[in-house]
Amino acid sequence: MPNLTFYDLHPPLENFREDVITGLSATPKAISPKFFYDQHGSRLFDRITELPEYYQTRTEISIIREHGMEMALLLGEHSLLLELGSGSSKKIRLLLDALRPAIYMPIDISREHLRESAQILAKHSPGLEIHAVCADYSNDFELPYYPESMPKAAFFPGSSIGNFEPPLAQALLQRTAKLLGAGGALLIGVDLIKSTGVLNAAYNDSQGVTADFNLNLLTRINRELNADFDLSSFEHHAFYNEKPGRIEMHLRSKIPQSVKVAGESFNFSMRETIHTENSYKYTLEQFQQLAISAGFKSERVWRDTEKLFSVHCLRVE
Ligand code: AVI
Repeated sequence: MPNLTFYDLHPPLENFREDVITGLSATPKAISPKFFYDQHGSRLFDRITELPEYYQTRTEISIIREHGMEMALLLGEHSLLLELGSGSSKKIRLLLDALRPAIYMPIDISREHLRESAQILAKHSPGLEIHAVCADYSNDFELPYYPESMPKAAFFPGSSIGNFEPPLAQALLQRTAKLLGAGGALLIGVDLIKSTGVLNAAYNDSQGVTADFNLNLLTRINRELNADFDLSSFEHHAFYNEKPGRIEMHLRSKIPQSVKVAGESFNFSMRETIHTENSYKYTLEQFQQLAISAGFKSERVWRDTEKLFSVHCLRVE
């Protein structure tokens, strides 16, 4: 497709192996949520976004639909528009007509999912120049294409920032500010603190899709790292931990057992867990403080009427 360039900066399998071995050797055991997103994991995540309990996606979309023109005005036209964690690139479509970016650069770790979504978008919008980058944006990396003089804007929807520990979220925002340069704008979705019941339901859906998404990590480790996790002896465990203000997801061993991964053995006691994800929730003020500490000023914030979700426009000072 003439309007699509694809850059593959996917981290090597070796990094996955090292991170999993290190995570399973630690106490408590933990594996980064970035490894959820193989092709099947990305598909499961897309299904999560349509679940009745998972209010985040539809609420964010309704905020963007309502305020898209104002958002586009603040972000500015004809920019290099970066999207972090672009996934299926559905939300950006709501803004593209108004934004008319010079170049759209979706960045995602899930290679095949990114390739598919970028191809669909390129076909659908033949006048749009797309530079799709498969990369792990949780680590510092150099953009393969960076027109210095072009104005820059960024879109980071879905409250994916909540999947980072606050100091790492701050570091990621700082790196984004550096990429954007002074005056650049970031439009970012942030999930809000709310009743524990609503939060717990969003991560324990009645159809069990979130459980499958969590357990798929073990399927991926079995396939890619030659491991022998028995999926029926682990269960999804997710709950809101009020003090740090985060949902925690774990995979809990139902029995005492030993598992082999890449030639190494790991013992699990009964009910021992692998901590697979944190999803931090913020108040508007907490998030604004975080953004300010990373070099942004808060320009505008929108919420839905039920105050479930927020979208912030931040500007690099
Ligand atoms: C991608 N991220 C913002 C989702 C979240 O809500 O933290 C991932 C997710 N995990 C379970 N359900 C959705």
